[in-house]
Amino acid sequence: VSVTVVVGNPRPGSRTRHAAELVGYRLTGAQPDAVLDLAEMGADLVDWSSARIAGLKGQVLAADVIVVASPTYKGTFTGLLKLFLDRFGAGELAGRPAVPLMLGGDLRHALAVEVALKPVLVEIGASCPTRGLFLLDSAYDDPTVLDEWAAQAVPQVAAAARGRQQP
Ligand SMILES: Cc1cc2nc3c(=O)[nH]c(=O)nc-3n(C[C@H](O)[C@H](O)[C@H](O)COP(=O)(O)O)c2cc1C
Repeated sequence: VSVTVVVGNPRPGSRTRHAAELVGYRLTGAQPDAVLDLAEMGADLVDWSSARIAGLKGQVLAADVIVVASPTYKGTFTGLLKLFLDRFGAGELAGRPAVPLMLGGDLRHALAVEVALKPVLVEIGASCPTRGLFLLDSAYDDPTVLDEWAAQAVPQVAAAARGRQQP
């Protein structure tokens, strides 16, 4: 099972990126096949003819599973991530399992991953078989939190990926 991680943090090399890589590792026991750190894409993200962004889309469409990660800004996911997700047509992900992940400083915004990020992924055709994962930035790599989430989520993602490969 191949995993592509998409990171929508304006700062490169962020905790959000590290958390997404940890989640990718939990899903397969291996490092993600590709990590797309959107902070490195600069003005290409607003250039709809960018071959670079078309290449990133290709890496998403080639993956069996995607992890889509963002910090919480103003109660929702970042505009940077939205710029990338807007490149996908409605339904284009064709049932590909996706795991929405958000980091934030305040647990009062924990539902943003369910009510803001997950619906956008579903709109572009992803299937989201797990609970979205919201991690406090101060404890994003706490293995207990990741273990608890993974116990339920890993089999759900594996089943969704198998179902998609063998319709
Ligand atoms: C502009 C901005 C807005 C933020 N708004 C929120 C917010 O509404 N809710 C929240 O829980 N955290 C908020 N935060 C905190 C970030 O979500 C948190 O620091 C980030 O997830 C940490 O991840 P990072 O180290 O990968 O950037 C905000 C941070 C910034 C810079």
